[in-house]
Amino acid sequence: MKIGIDKIGFNTSSYYLDLTDLANARGVDPNKYLIGIGQEKQAVVLPTQDIVTMGTMAADQMLTDADRQTITTVIVATESGIDNSKASAIYVKTLLGLGDFVRTIEFKEACYAGTAAIQAAKGLVSANPEEHVLVIAADIARYGLNTPGEVTQGGGAVAMLVTANPRILSIEGPSVPITRDVMDFWRPLGKTEAIVDGKYSTNVYIEMFLEAFKRYQELTDDDLTDFTALAFHLPFTKMGKKALEALLGDEDSLIAEKLRAQLTASQILNRKVGNLYTGSLYLSLISLLINGELAAGEKIGLFSYGSGAEGEFYTVTLQAGFETAFDKDLIESNLETRTKISVAEYEAIFNSQLGMNSEDIELNLDNDISKFRLTGIQNQKRIYTKK
Ligand code: COA
Repeated sequence: MKIGIDKIGFNTSSYYLDLTDLANARGVDPNKYLIGIGQEKQAVVLPTQDIVTMGTMAADQMLTDADRQTITTVIVATESGIDNSKASAIYVKTLLGLGDFVRTIEFKEACYAGTAAIQAAKGLVSANPEEHVLVIAADIARYGLNTPGEVTQGGGAVAMLVTANPRILSIEGPSVPITRDVMDFWRPLGKTEAIVDGKYSTNVYIEMFLEAFKRYQELTDDDLTDFTALAFHLPFTKMGKKALEALLGDEDSLIAEKLRAQLTASQILNRKVGNLYTGSLYLSLISLLINGELAAGEKIGLFSYGSGAEGEFYTVTLQAGFETAFDKDLIESNLETRTKISVAEYEAIFNSQLGMNSEDIELNLDNDISKFRLTGIQNQKRIYTKK
């Protein structure tokens, strides 16, 4: 039985910051951001949006009424949790209008958790083909104003429906998970911004990718020509280039050139959104599905990485008709119609996030036209509305 991604959707903020403006404000050559880091625009998330509202919207746009009747499990993968106890998936379940006979849970391991959720979903469907598992990978990447990580912020959510007989891609085996206990990026309890050793993190990422890929090859005898593309977790798009070049070196064979071109296709959407932690690999996969040179039956290698650190290399196979099984136009038009804001506006929004605040607050909804919104906090409870 084939198991995999039957539907995929994406949502991000309707506001963005142009990184040339940020470079000018920070006294940096814009090419450092555009070329050196590989980012052009950054999603700026309003205080009335969070992982629940963005994740719900990503799912709402792709689910039919019939889908809502058949979903059995909702897993939200995030490192931007809104409660230490209650799973954000419960709020998502309510906003999506799902029935009560559903399993709802939250997964955490930095940017890796989306992949853990996909593998768990595959296991559930494998045990019971009637399972329809909604996986949402949603995050807001925050490093702080005037920090080296600032240019790699962003936010958004990818929603995926994992079922038997999927229309987009099947998840294959074997997969290679890999864990090392390192402190390259973490967010202690009570802090709203991550602490990061960015260069160390980049090096650990590359080492773990090479190790996982090598082990995958030992287990399968696959070589590069077995892949039509390799897609990566992209905290910033240059990271994918660094990882792929670490594998290819100066190889200029046809397959090496093809993998480089497919990588460029897989970076296009991420360049315009920035980091969305758990969702970044899957936004890159969407970018590849839209912009890559792909055909049904071809195999894509995916490398997932979460600081701390855990990685996984696994493969997916494209299904016949995959290109019409998701709403490419909606994803692209949602990005094109975003509103550009100034650096001053971005800084004001950054500083007005709810953060760890637990006092009663009613948020100003004037600038947020989204269908799902966080309206504030009452008695230490987050209040969401649906238009
Ligand atoms: N034109 C073109 N490229 C330029 C440039 C210019 N004018 N100025 C600098 N660059 C290049 C540098 O050569 C460097 O390229 P390289 O990485 O290929 O060597 C790149 O821009 C970044 O510059 P650098 O000064 O090395 O980086 P930084 O100190 O500003 O930090 C990060 C970059 C990514 C480490 C930092 O943004 C960060 O910590 N981000 C968050 C953590 C993260 O995303 N970790 C990833 C693993 S999950």
